Amino acid sequence: MSSARSAPIAPVFHNILEMIGNTPMLELKRMDAGPCQLFVKMESMNPGNSIKDRIAVTMVDAAEKSGKLKKGGRIVEATAGNTGLALALIAGQKGYRLTVVVPDKMSDEKISHLRAMGAEVVLTRSDVAKGNPEYYQDVAEKIAKDDPDAHYINQFANDANTQAHYETTGPEIWEQMDGKIDAFVVGVGSGGTVSGVGRFLKERNPSCEIILADPVGSILAPLVNEGKQVQPGSWLVEGIGEDFIPSILHLDLVTKAFAISDAEAFHTARELLKKEGVLAGSSVGTLLAATLHYCREQKEPKRVVTLICDNGAKYLSKMFNDFWMVDNGFIARPTYGDIRDLIARRHLEKEDFCLTPTIPVAQAIKRMRMFSISQMAVVDDKDRVVGILDESDVLMALVRDRDCANKPVLDFMTSRVETIRPTASVNDLVPIFRADRIAVVSDEKHFYGLITKIDLINYLRKQL
Ligand SMILES: Cc1ncc(COP(=O)(O)O)c(C=O)c1O
Repeated sequence: MSSARSAPIAPVFHNILEMIGNTPMLELKRMDAGPCQLFVKMESMNPGNSIKDRIAVTMVDAAEKSGKLKKGGRIVEATAGNTGLALALIAGQKGYRLTVVVPDKMSDEKISHLRAMGAEVVLTRSDVAKGNPEYYQDVAEKIAKDDPDAHYINQFANDANTQAHYETTGPEIWEQMDGKIDAFVVGVGSGGTVSGVGRFLKERNPSCEIILADPVGSILAPLVNEGKQVQPGSWLVEGIGEDFIPSILHLDLVTKAFAISDAEAFHTARELLKKEGVLAGSSVGTLLAATLHYCREQKEPKRVVTLICDNGAKYLSKMFNDFWMVDNGFIARPTYGDIRDLIARRHLEKEDFCLTPTIPVAQAIKRMRMFSISQMAVVDDKDRVVGILDESDVLMALVRDRDCANKPVLDFMTSRVETIRPTASVNDLVPIFRADRIAVVSDEKHFYGLITKIDLINYLRKQL
């Protein structure tokens, strides 16, 4: 295994935009790629942490050259996030204002990141399709139309998007692989990567296969594999999958498509991190899962390349968070077959955050804020619940007693708790919630955890 010291020394750059592109290629040796050799191009190592840095530079350059973007003007774009981050990087360096319209399924981290970089973020609905005035691309187009200083970048219909990949990503892959590449696996967001890299690789080697990785619910995989037009569904993977065909997309380059479920994508991205140490975004899970299917189907050894499109730090609170995976049904836990299955954070498995009666109120507030929770059980040294401290108890403590911070939670908690047994029915929860209380599930032996209104909502939602 080589060490960092054996890599060539990186040059000194004089502007962050010079660091875009020329990303490393990594061979993945620990994933089961059948008879194939599997390589990933680390687009997450661009300064904006995604492949979109490449197109943002090219599209802004093209807009400047065409005169559509004037000095100090406003860039508007509709994006799942990464293009927005890349544009924010460029806008910041070149002195443009930036407005980004994002569908409301995007991760909080992406939105906070955009705002921190100085972009104005407009959130819009993710449950409406193209043509609806609230669809993110239509919203962006309208914002740009209403402002004479604004230019709508529109990556979905912008030839400079494809050009960036034809001129940079494609040639880099070709050179890094020494011209020996049998297949390239890619997803479609705007279609720029598949169209640009695909065209370049096909020109160099017409037998190089371009394989599409598509989320289940997207309209592309059925179109490629069966020529079938289907109604779009929904998916959670961010950045790829389509409910319409972007004008720059050249699907004719694609030989075969794999439709990958959210569950498989998330588990594959988690496996990639555990086995290979690569922290990648959710769409990479889709790409890698499709790549592994392709590789394992092969009879001959092939050299297969896919992309690490973005960095996974933005998904730490989602697919890399076990609770998020459980809450969203992507990790199945052992079930009890009774009301204990409604408990979101199981006490016996040490998933919950409890307080001891003597802990100071200031400390309890700190934990509530740190873990974003509104209530905690107060347990004694025999692990029995002696009270509940929730937000209203804390609020009352702060209002009524100026010195409460250093006093024990015992003085302010609600001691009359609503205990129910594991054998209770879901209906038994209703009067408890109607009285604005929290259910404590316990029997003679154990305290199992709390059930709150949101837990019941989630349980009923999953039943639908
Ligand atoms: C996060 C992400 N964005 C974008 C792309 C490709 O996008 P586009 O079709 O816009 O080039 C991919 C994957 O290929 C991706 O994973």
